[in-house]
Amino acid sequence: QGGAVVATGAVSAAAVSAAPAGQLTVLFGSQTGNSKGVAEELAASAKAQGLPVQVKSMANYKAKDLKTETHLIIVVSTNGEGEAPDDAIELHELLGSKKAPKLPDLKYAVLALGDSSYEFFCQTGKDFDERLAATGAQSFLERLDCDVDYETPAKEWGDKALKLVSETLTLSVQAAPVAQPFAAPASFATSQYDKKNPYTATLVTNQKITGRNSQKDVRHFEISLEDSGIQYRAGDALGVWFENDSELVDQVVKQVGLSGDEQVEVDGEKVSLRQALISHYELTQSYPGFVEKYAEISGSKKLAKIAADKAQAREYANSHQILDILAVKKNVSLTAEQLIAMLRRITPRLYSIASSQAEVEEEVHLTVGMVEFESEQGDARSGGATGFLKRLEEGGEVKVFVEHNDNFRLPANPETPVIMVGPGTGVAPFRAFMQERDAQGAGGKNWMFFGDQTFTEDFLYQVEWRGYLDSGLLTKMDVAFSRDQEEKIYVQHRLLENAAQVYQWLEDGAHFYICGDANRMAKDVNDALVKIVQEQGNKSFEEAEEYVSELRRAKRYQRDVY
Ligand code: 2AM
Repeated sequence: QGGAVVATGAVSAAAVSAAPAGQLTVLFGSQTGNSKGVAEELAASAKAQGLPVQVKSMANYKAKDLKTETHLIIVVSTNGEGEAPDDAIELHELLGSKKAPKLPDLKYAVLALGDSSYEFFCQTGKDFDERLAATGAQSFLERLDCDVDYETPAKEWGDKALKLVSETLTLSVQAAPVAQPFAAPASFATSQYDKKNPYTATLVTNQKITGRNSQKDVRHFEISLEDSGIQYRAGDALGVWFENDSELVDQVVKQVGLSGDEQVEVDGEKVSLRQALISHYELTQSYPGFVEKYAEISGSKKLAKIAADKAQAREYANSHQILDILAVKKNVSLTAEQLIAMLRRITPRLYSIASSQAEVEEEVHLTVGMVEFESEQGDARSGGATGFLKRLEEGGEVKVFVEHNDNFRLPANPETPVIMVGPGTGVAPFRAFMQERDAQGAGGKNWMFFGDQTFTEDFLYQVEWRGYLDSGLLTKMDVAFSRDQEEKIYVQHRLLENAAQVYQWLEDGAHFYICGDANRMAKDVNDALVKIVQEQGNKSFEEAEEYVSELRRAKRYQRDVY
């Protein structure tokens, strides 16, 4: 089945040149792959309907091509505090600037993905909608702002959008048949496994790699992909489905006066409440809506007060699990349906892959920090997926899928130097990078910046880094152990100490990567990078920022932050 609608029979030359050929372009801006997944599904469905369609990352799209588009669908997510995903930054900025093109002939629609517990919910989608409208383009379907449970609403919206596209597009296509078949949508996953249809893999290794006296429990996991045919590349992430701890489930049902044997319906099937809470609903990750709903049902004044302030509700939901929020007002009896109706469905967690298939073949490795803390009452709490992985014994089963990430890739040219900044578990993809560079026999220089709390307890994969230094694959390694001395020393301090050399590497064409904490580290490292360019390149602050933006546009500055 070709995607193009190609007319048969004679078509006069005049007809071909008179009307513009219509086609649908689906552009996505995606940080973790959700928008990409939605966009690719939408394009596949358009193709199946015989619509001429192309799907592209905004990062690989030239803004000037907008002038040639007839039908455009934007699928874009929003990061933390209302920021655009990295691959959308450039187009987002351009459309908001004086350089924005006039697009009176364009029909467009925007699908926004986001998380309503954030203040700037779906902000990037809203921006695209406004900015496209300002170019004179016509919205053909009202924008949809999707929350974390985006799959069903996104699918329904997409079906509506395609129906509208086909109604207007078919006309222009009949008037002016497209001579060239359109290219098939780009990059579909190579294996049959994905988020909805994960592969049941076997855990081979579950090993704590922080020391006995570390404040943290960071684990190295090795998972066998056996004969799944799953392929991944350094920079990709692994999606991991998990089950909640059955003890936690027992405590939750008891808290609301239930037994767990009650029957509930999940996806049209009857299961016990206990099973539903183990496999289908989030108990370890709360959200502001839960605080609000339980405040209402329970009549808790404390929760009602928290829920009234959006920022406070988010902060509270982020630091309290479902059980602990339920415990704020005790002796409230709920029905199984009431409980389920307040909860969100489990979503898989994504972890940056820590291995390269060139080295580990049919395995995939992860570096995961266990989420462990105490509730206000002093009870031990752990993260849903990290707790599941920690409990999982070698030989146990885990459902996984690969989430490709083309926004975090080694340079195509093995001779190109790379600078990697990965403190804590941010080290993971750089272990994969080194394995890949090693297998490639890559001649390019490699510089690693690693940081953590202490040298003796937290130097993740120390032996491997030592080996790469000895073999010469790793050109230079700088470490920052924040708690080994009075003052805090972080990776950005090491970068600044090496400013002249870092700048020289960049001038020599190096690619610069950051992985790890998005809240503070990635921002501070970005600031350090701008400072280095400003000082070493004798530039103004604005010029230095532009230099860094140019690096990003050239895909020489890539981030995988969480
Ligand atoms: P700290 O917790 O001792 O302050 C990995 O988690 C390492 O990142 C730890 O050494 C941690 O230091 C450090 N870290 C914390 N905040 C940081 C920041 N803003 N920039 C860089 N590293 C940071």
